[in-house]
Amino acid sequence: MKILVTGGLGFIGSHTVVELLENNYEVIIVDNLYNSKIDVLDKIKKITGKETKFYQDDVCNKMALEKIFKENKIDSVIHFAGYKAVGESCSKPLMYYHNNLMSTINLLEVMKENNVKNFIFSSSATIYGNPGTSKYVEEMGRGKTTNPYGTTKSMIEQILEDLYNSDNEWSISILRYFNPIGAHSSGLIGESPNGIPNNLMPYILKVASKQLEVLNVFGNDYPTPDGTGVRDYIHVVDLAKGHVSALNKIVKSGAGVYVYNLGSGKGVSVLELVNTFERVNGVKVNYRIADRRPGDLAEYYADPSKALKELGWKTEKTVEDMCRDSWNFMKNNINE
Ligand code: UFG
Repeated sequence: MKILVTGGLGFIGSHTVVELLENNYEVIIVDNLYNSKIDVLDKIKKITGKETKFYQDDVCNKMALEKIFKENKIDSVIHFAGYKAVGESCSKPLMYYHNNLMSTINLLEVMKENNVKNFIFSSSATIYGNPGTSKYVEEMGRGKTTNPYGTTKSMIEQILEDLYNSDNEWSISILRYFNPIGAHSSGLIGESPNGIPNNLMPYILKVASKQLEVLNVFGNDYPTPDGTGVRDYIHVVDLAKGHVSALNKIVKSGAGVYVYNLGSGKGVSVLELVNTFERVNGVKVNYRIADRRPGDLAEYYADPSKALKELGWKTEKTVEDMCRDSWNFMKNNINE
């Protein structure tokens, strides 16, 4: 079976490609290298011993997509490509709406033209908005999002539902990720954001490796056990495996829209993550307490029971594994 993976050289995309190859799927990657590096392709080969066909194209370029579909008999598509920085989306909303929506609509149009109707979409827990409860269950549905990035995810979920309502042959899986961190145990692939990181684990890595001086812990007066923000961190390899399970499900169960939370179900605070990182890696992470970051919620985590029941999927890796693997990747790639 041939799977087209958009954004397949990015953080979650590359780990998913590895899991697909290890499960004997054939993979075709399309990636414009906006936020990823070409050497990831070789690293995927090193890990799996398998070849992946690669197109350096932008998913916003419909002609390029048409060519890819003409040259390959694609069965299913996993769509990761998109802009993902929350802060940047607030200063450049048109860029975010244009890129994330146009790429997805193009892709769905070309799929429809080619009668390919199996689709997996990278959504996010951010679509729940601020529901007034910490445990997020799929049935709660989409809430009011707080930034344009999140709104693109929410809008695309709506587009996918409308598409299925117009044509019941589509098999669509919407995967709502919580906070992916960690890296492949080989240390070859992981997350390497451009510039100063926004997210917690990439920032911890820069401080631990002395590239940045100090981590700002955004608020210690939240109504949480230690006052710092609580999130559901998920190892990227567990998350990648969730995509393979979702793919098996849509292929087996056929048409429908299937929505799943992919998280561990367990909340971890900023300070817990920092302390675990220091303990398992034997390194110091300098931090100071700073003001709350606007828009942050105190605490949320997944109810992952639907994914367990319907996909037979659950997270296997611990917060210790996430901290160890993240640091291992950082140490291996510090000079790149
Ligand atoms: N944090 C800090 N210092 C930092 C960075 C983060 O204290 O330098 C704290 C935040 O306040 C929060 C926690 O660490 O409590 C996690 O923050 P991240 O920025 O790593 O992640 P978010 O939970 O804010 O957002 C992430 C993704 C979004 C996605 C969302 C889905 O970045 O893309 O999860 O739940 F939409």
